[in-house]
Amino acid sequence: MANTSLLHAKRLLLGLTGGIAAYKAAEIARLLIQENIDVQPVMTKSACRFVGPATLQALTGKMVFSDLWDDRIANNMAHINISRDVDVILIAPASADFIAKLANGFANDLLSTLCLARDCPLFVAPAMNRQMWENPSTQRNLTLLRRDGVIILGPAEGAQACGETGMGRMLEAQELVKVILSFFQPKLLQNKRVLITAGPTYEAIDAIRGITNLSSGKMGYSIARAAQEAGAKVTLISGPVCLESPFGITQINIVSAQDMLVAVKKEISNVDIFISAAAVADFLPAKISNQKIKKVGKNISLKLVSNPDILEYAAGLSKPPFCVGFAAETENLEKNAKDKRIKKKIPLIAANLAQDTIGSDESTLILFDDKGKHLLHKAPKIVQARRLINHISLLYKK
Ligand SMILES: Cc1cc2nc3c(=O)[nH]c(=O)nc-3n(C[C@H](O)[C@H](O)[C@H](O)COP(=O)(O)O)c2cc1C
Repeated sequence: MANTSLLHAKRLLLGLTGGIAAYKAAEIARLLIQENIDVQPVMTKSACRFVGPATLQALTGKMVFSDLWDDRIANNMAHINISRDVDVILIAPASADFIAKLANGFANDLLSTLCLARDCPLFVAPAMNRQMWENPSTQRNLTLLRRDGVIILGPAEGAQACGETGMGRMLEAQELVKVILSFFQPKLLQNKRVLITAGPTYEAIDAIRGITNLSSGKMGYSIARAAQEAGAKVTLISGPVCLESPFGITQINIVSAQDMLVAVKKEISNVDIFISAAAVADFLPAKISNQKIKKVGKNISLKLVSNPDILEYAAGLSKPPFCVGFAAETENLEKNAKDKRIKKKIPLIAANLAQDTIGSDESTLILFDDKGKHLLHKAPKIVQARRLINHISLLYKK
């Protein structure tokens, strides 16, 4: 199988088969190209009935192949040459028919033949009517494919083109592209167990009111995705946010800092790396009213007490994981971050200006470790997260 630490441009073969979801393949091609991935389309004859090869050709800038006997290739062996020129094959959509062919080693058209002759990983995104999906023969074929190391992506459940509702919808283009981007990331934390906290906490005052903060969770979720892309087994402990769970991670949802501490305590003995990206409330009300506090008189006083310090707890364990903290400050960023790293006795801290980063899709990070200061210039949070994972992988040696 092809090596995934790639020095050349990333190259993908996008195989389209005969299903309504073929229209989504055009969007997959567009998104992959935006990410600088070279896309070679190959279509079955049926796929060409659903979308025109010209669309894929225009989007990818590549000749579209669909004929086993295509003589545009000098040695007439499209089925070998095309698959040798790519790092990965994605079949999207994969029809029930094509899945059956793959599972049984059929090679009676170009796409099935080059899949059989491939020397690279194969991802398959099924798309079909729910009865076709549930049919024992389709399920049997999928079991065979999984056993052969083929990665099956989805399908999802929902409304179908035929008017029925159920399992069989192809995953959305963005979801499939995320998986492919993940495949192309270097596996810097292969099989490492990483625990990440993200988002704000919510500290109840009464039955309906509470204290929280403006953390969106975007940084922590990006780190979870970047760690997963790097091959880690990721557990994400998340405060209340409006974000989709990153693909392929275990997520634990919590509300308060106390809940987060309980979840961290439960998970931490099994992890190699702990990244504390959550904006944990420093204080909580001394007394929580079970009922809504009524408006009597003009003012009320709220007594606040300290919340547990989760990062300090993790770093203070007799055998702590490699701990990474975050410092979100509104002033004296560098001094406060350096002091926090020393106080918490952690090897790495990521500092960011709270007013610039909270809620934003981008951030500027300054990392502090034993060697000093490392500036990560302003970039989307997923890019910063990948840079952070890269930095952690250099420091973490076990
Ligand atoms: C309008 C229409 C829609 C179809 N949609 C699907 C589909 O979503 N999934 C599927 O597995 N087959 C679907 N089929 C059946 C396949 O196109 C058919 O099995 C074909 O032989 C698949 O060829 P291929 O696997 O070589 O691409 C559809 C057929 C028609 C006529």
